[in-house]
Amino acid sequence: MNLPNLKEAQKRTKKEVLVKTNEYIVSENFKNLGLGKKYFVKTYGCQMNEHDSENIKAILEDMNFTEASSMEQADLILLNTCAIRENAHNKVFGMVGRIKHLKESKPNLIAGICGCMAQEEHIVEEILNKYRWLDIVFGTHNIHELPKILNESLQKQKLEIDVQSIEGDVIENVPVKRDSKYKAWVNIMYGCDKFCTYCIVPYTRGKQRSRTPEFIINEVKQLVIDGYKEVTLLGQNVNAYGKDLNINYGMANLLRDVAETGIERVRFVTSHPWDFTDDMIDAIAKYENIMPYIHLPLQSGSSSILKKMGRRYTKEEYLGLFNKIKERIPGCAITTDIIVGFPNETNEDFLETLDVVNKCKYDSAFTFIFSPRIGTPAMRMEDRISLEVKESRLQELNQLINKYSKEANDKYLGQVVPVLLEGYSEKGEDMLMGYTDTMKLVNVKGNKTMIGKIVDVKITDVKTWSMDGEII
Ligand code: SAH
Ligand code: SF4
Ligand code: F3S
Repeated sequence: MNLPNLKEAQKRTKKEVLVKTNEYIVSENFKNLGLGKKYFVKTYGCQMNEHDSENIKAILEDMNFTEASSMEQADLILLNTCAIRENAHNKVFGMVGRIKHLKESKPNLIAGICGCMAQEEHIVEEILNKYRWLDIVFGTHNIHELPKILNESLQKQKLEIDVQSIEGDVIENVPVKRDSKYKAWVNIMYGCDKFCTYCIVPYTRGKQRSRTPEFIINEVKQLVIDGYKEVTLLGQNVNAYGKDLNINYGMANLLRDVAETGIERVRFVTSHPWDFTDDMIDAIAKYENIMPYIHLPLQSGSSSILKKMGRRYTKEEYLGLFNKIKERIPGCAITTDIIVGFPNETNEDFLETLDVVNKCKYDSAFTFIFSPRIGTPAMRMEDRISLEVKESRLQELNQLINKYSKEANDKYLGQVVPVLLEGYSEKGEDMLMGYTDTMKLVNVKGNKTMIGKIVDVKITDVKTWSMDGEII
């Protein structure tokens, strides 16, 4: 049993990151652990977790499990969790309650928790106190050890916890079962060293570790051969890519090399404004297959709050970068993340945030109320602002964001835009859905043969969250 440790998770040392290419192995006696059994993986949180779940599914299939279409049908249920805000936590424990219920009528059901919550010391304490009937708990650093952990629990018929609070290495040979045949996530880096004062990610994901360019480019080249149309390069801070490799090769170089593979669409998330270089902007502007869409988290428009958040840019610097991107990449869509109610955020601070939104007129935004996370500096900051005030700020902010989302979408009316059709839309039969180069959700009439193709669509109707169009 390995338990997570907050103090260890907070540490950053000079220890060398190892690239391990033979770390994942499924020994013969684990290969039948899943024979005749079905699994269900429920994923919370960011794209990185989505992609981790694709790895987990492939590992389970290496043990001969097959995928269940619902939780009720499964013999093994895994919750891949997110720790970013309190409501993510609450959702998971709600689901754990449901699983307990299922386990009462199906005693052989195997249930486990993994992901970012599993990396939290206090969560694992809670599991040990209240949820000992769970079978496995593992973290973000040892997904590749799932066969061993599962076997351990099955052998001993008791809860097996294996979570490592380490800075982490790069494991290169983990298999993947991708959810889509057309769009693929590609990790370019793990962890985060920015330590924004409100954020739990540096503790749950370890230190920043970039994958070497060769591994990334080869993965993308293989995706092209396999018929994929789009890759999204993943990292908490993609702009800082390569800084830890000391090879004088950064995100701009990587963007160019990935674009040169000929994949039709290249995307990347998330861009921290701090590391956004002119060279990157040039690369995005130059290559037609790098999509004109950037997620550029603001967090707050107040320079004094930004300082307390440890974001290392001011309101003016953010606006300068925003305007430069808009000038140099015509038609580029920009979305953002904003937190309201950071400790002691004054009304003036909040008005600064609204001012930035009024200036940037974002294509869309994710907005959140600050949620104190155990172990982070912001949790210990004095906060005199009531929840009512925070909620009303969030509401006011959302109204403004929605107004600009609609305005940004309105500009598309009558235009012809490229859409990668991904699958059937919820809007009804014969309706397909997909995204424009600028990441706008579009619904069109079409048939199965068009799925997986990039088609020209004329936009005929525009809403706040989506658009309707006709294939031309
Ligand atoms: N690496 C990305 C953010 C990843 S987390 C970046 O630096 O921009 C996604 C978003 O969750 C953040 O942008 C932030 O807006 C929000 N978030 C993170 N921690 C939070 C907290 N403690 N309370 C509320 N929102 C938070
Ligand atoms: Fe969290 Fe900041 Fe790292 Fe983003 S950059 S993951 S907000 S610490
Ligand atoms: Fe959540 Fe972990 Fe992602 S905390 S946002 S799943 S990195």
